[in-house]
Amino acid sequence: MQLPSTWRKAWHSWNPLSDQVLQHDLVVPGFERLHEIEDSDRDFWSHSYPRNHNFVLGRNRLIPSRRLSDRLRQLTVHYPRSARSLVDLSCSKGYFVFHARCQMGMERVLGIDIDRPTLEKCQLLNAHFGLRENTTFAESRLRELSHKAQADQADFDVGLLVNTYQYLRLGSSLEPAAGNSHRELFYMLSQVCRGRLIFHNRLEFTDLQDSVQQEASVEGSKDYHPGEILTAASEFFQVRKVGGSALRPILLLDNRRGYTWREQV
Ligand SMILES: C[S@@+](CC[C@H](N)C(=O)[O-])C[C@H]1O[C@@H](n2cnc3c(N)ncnc32)[C@H](O)[C@@H]1O
Repeated sequence: MQLPSTWRKAWHSWNPLSDQVLQHDLVVPGFERLHEIEDSDRDFWSHSYPRNHNFVLGRNRLIPSRRLSDRLRQLTVHYPRSARSLVDLSCSKGYFVFHARCQMGMERVLGIDIDRPTLEKCQLLNAHFGLRENTTFAESRLRELSHKAQADQADFDVGLLVNTYQYLRLGSSLEPAAGNSHRELFYMLSQVCRGRLIFHNRLEFTDLQDSVQQEASVEGSKDYHPGEILTAASEFFQVRKVGGSALRPILLLDNRRGYTWREQV
């Protein structure tokens, strides 16, 4: 039976789960005592920027919004089945990190970001997560991670770099660029990610957010172009486009150093 549209709208606005997807492989179970988390904190996960990363806290699980579910489906299908470690290089609210640990068989996961309040929220959730061992959130930078990866061989099978490359190359009001060239950035990425980097970012300067364009240096804006980005990436990775759009493709970057895992068929 179909509800009349006014009723349907009323139901959606009343029911906080109306925008959520309860597909078992997309939710993240295994949390404890989530009811102890304050309502004001819950709003952060369900109603803040970036909106395509929103989710709600169930009794003992995280339930993704429709937009987040769509992104999860698009990206997680490219995790190699034998991968055992994952780093999200701009983890934001942390869903991809929790999901990888709980649902994708990763034994070690790390989420980094530069935004301390967001990371504190990830750590709060992690304190309730049954698999918190080897699940880490840290305020860190690509350069730092790359040095660490070289020194301690603390690199990762899978890396996620989603909707963030423009900040690494051009900087923002929050921080300067993370590298002086595309080449330097992809070198560091190849140190951190020994297997596959899933790269889903805007490649055209004119497609970037207005604020990013306005704050970019002249030099940075000139070489922010798909040709330059892909040439630099190709020196360290084999690059394959597997989805997304021309302006914002989903690219699989497989490290030319060779895998330490093998694809299981
Ligand atoms: C658009 S959000 C994407 C978050 C996440 N990867 C996703 O897809 O949901 C951009 C992320 O990049 C992080 N970031 C890293 N360096 C940044 C910089 N220099 N300026 C702004 N944001 C930066 C932000 O804190 C934020 O979490």
